[in-house]
Amino acid sequence: MIDIHCHILPGVDDGSADMKESLNMARKAVEAGITHLFATPHHLNEKYVNVKSDIIDRAVRLNESLQQNNIPLTIHPGQEVRIHRDIFSSLEKEEILTLDDNVTYLLLELPSGRVPAYTQEVIYELLLKGITPIIVHPERNKELITNHKLLFELVQEGALTQITSGSIIGNFGKSIQSFSKKIIEHNLAHFIATDAHNIGSRGFTLQQAYEKITKVYGIERTFYFKENTELLLQGLSLIIEKPVPFKKKFMGIF
Ligand SMILES: [Fe+2]
Repeated sequence: MIDIHCHILPGVDDGSADMKESLNMARKAVEAGITHLFATPHHLNEKYVNVKSDIIDRAVRLNESLQQNNIPLTIHPGQEVRIHRDIFSSLEKEEILTLDDNVTYLLLELPSGRVPAYTQEVIYELLLKGITPIIVHPERNKELITNHKLLFELVQEGALTQITSGSIIGNFGKSIQSFSKKIIEHNLAHFIATDAHNIGSRGFTLQQAYEKITKVYGIERTFYFKENTELLLQGLSLIIEKPVPFKKKFMGIF
């Protein structure tokens, strides 16, 4: 399996503290069936900077350590970019790192409590530059939880989304689990990823989430999410289903 969002690079953010912990996380990821992992440290989120060149260097070093320790996992450099007015000057300064060499997909983080007024404009401007933002864990955003229509509009505009595996299996509570389900049912989710920060409470629960999705929606839905991670890794076009507005009632129960 491919995980497109995690905090495994040592000592750069609120994820792994040091190389020892990163190697332990890597072992857990392998045990959980993950073969490729995008290391996506926080960027511009008030506390952490983590510019592109630094992340690439650190990913190289982590891959070397993984080889030395015979851990069969490949790290790909990435970044979780907090939405910010300065995002475009960061892009110009080449501080921003997309998930692929073609500069196509970018993990975009909203503040947890709200959706800033300039969000739609940032998405629009990124799309104009050929960059498709993947909004991470929209199911945990307080404003989107109460305003589903806004999420529909962001996806309709061209943004993609990534649901966190822990949300699907209930690790963040019932309301976040329930909203995750609604997002999937309305074709507003394009990826599932762990957003792993450690080997404890924020670990690699990708397989459990896929099992839940298979149980509720069938194996095809799991294949859809897995295939998108494969396509992203290979730099190919993703499968994007037509978003469904929030009207209909669905029967699936998590
Ligand atoms: Fe994250």
